Amino acid sequence: MTLVLGIETSCDETSAALLDDASGTPVLRSLVIFSQDIHRVFGGVVPEIASRAHLTAIVPVVRQTLVDASADVSDIDVVAVTNAPGLVGALLVGVNYAKGLAFGLGRPLVAVHHMEGHLFAAMLDDPNAQPPFTALLVSGGHTLLMDVPEWGHYRLLGSTRDDAAGEAFDKVAKLLGLPYPGGRHVEALAKEGDPSRFRFSRPMLSRTTPETDRAYFDLSFSGLKTAVLNAVRASDDLARDARDIARGFQDALIDTLVEKTYRAARAHGRTRVVLGGGVACNRTLAAAVRERLEPLGATVFTPSPRLATDNAGMIAQAGLFRYTLGERAPLDLSAHASAPLPGQV
Ligand code: KG4
Ligand code: ZN
Repeated sequence: MTLVLGIETSCDETSAALLDDASGTPVLRSLVIFSQDIHRVFGGVVPEIASRAHLTAIVPVVRQTLVDASADVSDIDVVAVTNAPGLVGALLVGVNYAKGLAFGLGRPLVAVHHMEGHLFAAMLDDPNAQPPFTALLVSGGHTLLMDVPEWGHYRLLGSTRDDAAGEAFDKVAKLLGLPYPGGRHVEALAKEGDPSRFRFSRPMLSRTTPETDRAYFDLSFSGLKTAVLNAVRASDDLARDARDIARGFQDALIDTLVEKTYRAARAHGRTRVVLGGGVACNRTLAAAVRERLEPLGATVFTPSPRLATDNAGMIAQAGLFRYTLGERAPLDLSAHASAPLPGQV
């Protein structure tokens, strides 16, 4: 019997989850996500406020997770916690809480890399989302394109050279006067937009780049963001143009993500693609990836929105994997703002 408590506090979500592996097929018994709404007032995450809010929320969030699963704290077999990457002050709240709990209960502690968590999110919804697969992780802080031959073995093919995909969505949202975080607002607005009015160039899609060049898989969004800025400045009626600009931006960004994902799947002969991270909530992106990869006979797995954005369910699942490998974190475990994925080549 293995009941894993997952804890996630890397950014502005305080989350806990209980994952039950008693039957050999992991089942999420409960998942609580406390989203710190306060950052909307500032148009972005304020690290000090995030840390304080985690401190206030962590105990009630874990307590509710136990209540929802009708479990007692003594039922927990393993404590899994995100310790990198993220805001150090925010991560430390989860790490220290997890250490105290594991020590008090006399249970093992397992450290989880946040991005490995995102890789495991899709399989909580669909157990077929298993390696080998191509992975596209698109969140507010990261954009990673990977080949995953097996769990724990991550071949990084490409990443963003500047802004993350979610960051680009959030910055464009700000330029268009939309609330933070802006991804879903841009998507909604783009639906009403005319795709022919603003045709922004697609970054890093030169047909002459050889497959051996890192640029073949890498991404870049800051030029696209500047193109949007210029279009906003040139507009004499933003109320009229905003939806068309949103559409032009989203089309360019999605075309790029889709093409790079196609290249990665084709280069490694993969017929499964796993999306993860907050931007994977974007239905237009998921539909476009499906359509483009159809000729390869690929199945595309997208986590449900609750599991695509930051949550402790994916941390519990990645923690279970690390636990079964025999990994145990020491009680002097630290938090890190950045760290390579374990098993990354
Ligand atoms: O993975 P996540 O919850 O947090 C990080 O680890 O960063 O991702 C948050 C990001 C934000 O940038 C947000 O704007 C974006 O995901 N996002 C979306 C959508 N929903 C959330 N971007 C595009 N379309 C969406 N529907
Ligand atoms: Zn994340």
